[in-house]
Amino acid sequence: MEVNAIEARRLKKGFDGNPVLKEVNFTLKTGEVHALVGQNGAGKSTLVKLINGFHQRDGGEIRLFGEESHFATPKEAQAKGIAMVYQDLSLIPSLSVADNIFLTQSQRSALISNRDRVRQAEPILATLGVDIDPRQKVENLSVGEQQFIEIAKAMAMDARILVLDEPTASLSNNEINALFTVIRNLKSRGISIIYITHYMSDIMRICDAVTVLRDGYSVLETQTADTSVDALVEAMLGSKTDTDFVWERPATSASEAVPLLELRNVTTCDLDAVSLKVMPGQVVGLAGLLGSGRTEILEAIYGLTPIQSGEVRVNGQVVNIHSPRQAIENGINMVPEERRSQGLVLDFSVEDNVLMASFDRISRSMVLDKAKGQSMVEDTIKKLGVKTTGVTQPVRFLSGGNQQKVVIGKCLSTDAKVLLLDDPTFGIDINAKYEIMKIVNQYVAQGNGVIFVSSEYAEVGSFCDVIYVVNKGRIVRHFSGQRMTEEALLAAVQ
Ligand SMILES: Nc1ncnc2c1ncn2[C@@H]1O[C@H](COP(=O)(O)OP(=O)(O)OP(=O)(O)O)[C@@H](O)[C@H]1O
Ligand SMILES: [Mg+2]
Repeated sequence: MEVNAIEARRLKKGFDGNPVLKEVNFTLKTGEVHALVGQNGAGKSTLVKLINGFHQRDGGEIRLFGEESHFATPKEAQAKGIAMVYQDLSLIPSLSVADNIFLTQSQRSALISNRDRVRQAEPILATLGVDIDPRQKVENLSVGEQQFIEIAKAMAMDARILVLDEPTASLSNNEINALFTVIRNLKSRGISIIYITHYMSDIMRICDAVTVLRDGYSVLETQTADTSVDALVEAMLGSKTDTDFVWERPATSASEAVPLLELRNVTTCDLDAVSLKVMPGQVVGLAGLLGSGRTEILEAIYGLTPIQSGEVRVNGQVVNIHSPRQAIENGINMVPEERRSQGLVLDFSVEDNVLMASFDRISRSMVLDKAKGQSMVEDTIKKLGVKTTGVTQPVRFLSGGNQQKVVIGKCLSTDAKVLLLDDPTFGIDINAKYEIMKIVNQYVAQGNGVIFVSSEYAEVGSFCDVIYVVNKGRIVRHFSGQRMTEEALLAAVQ
């Protein structure tokens, strides 16, 4: 019988006296793709960081190909063939693709010339099926492309075990398909893969087995063939929930009301004569492929890219917005796509991060009303179910999904009349996703408006009152007054 790649028994890990993993068992068979699932903060990232020596376990044992293992650092684990692509990318933007791919093998790569590095990077990128020039600087790549460089980096070190922590979060549909081809390819070469994700349907497509974490325990270990999406969700949440939500909203008296926000033929370096309207009470969706111009539309509204011609109106009045500050003064706020770098100060507490955005509302003549601020933050984190030890915890120590919730909480606690949400639910578990959508729904019910971008077509289709389809910086179609299925919307954006 073949020996297991990883066998972890009774693993225990806590931080500052707070247990995260109480008793976790995890078995990765050689050559299988094994999904790890659980709600935000369940301990998925912590578990894989115990396996690769990033964290030290408090108890239990880990066997690697039959041998008891104890890695003091990720470097030691790497030497034994464990490669990890972290949830937050760790590339060096100012270096080239080739340099980044061979970065971790500094001793070896110091001996080879730049030209050889480029030459060696090419076949690795080719196996991944991506068309990226290895000489290009990483800072010029999209987030999706950077994800592939991370995987290329892992492949360059001849990994036997590859850990992918939410790899699809920022990938387009085509890129996801390419990634799955790569995973199948690696699997056929005997590489064992741990795959962390919040997308249940992906697990059914690409994974052989799945382990569910909840409240510090591994509550379900099964072959994917023997389970279902519903059973996984139930194991994750510990109770049965209905995940098919219907979002009905009263029809707005569209024709006579003044739009909260209107774009008329807005042209920028990326956009070509974009016109759209956001009426009070509406969630307006932007659908399109990665790079189609959805984010660019939000950036133009938010004052991040100069508008060359056309006009923006707020409540019917023409406005000139040249910076996010001016956007905020005009009642417009945005949750950016790259939240970690743009939306949070990692070393600040949860409280300070949320309060930064709404300083004016809680300060009287620049003196901060601490009690008011604190109760507002506590209210926000309760509503969104942010898993934290308290409002004073630095956000650096929150799980990826919980950091996400803090950024959204920050935005929702301002006085803005129009929110621009760029993929607000990525990396967020099914329960928190529902909570966020519920809050957005309440927000528009008060007469506010939202522009909603999401890479999940099912979400845009079921949640938005109006949907604009974006392609190459232009609005090519628009749908209103009906909810759309994932299939119909996918067909419309091609
Ligand atoms: N270095 C740390 N110091 C303190 N607490 C931590 C640290 N790392 C993780 N935690 C806590 O451990 C818990 C589990 O975090 P982890 O990142 O493993 O969750 P996750 O399952 O990966 O969640 P997500 O889906 O949001 O990525 C969280 O409550 C988090 O705040
Ligand atoms: Mg995580």
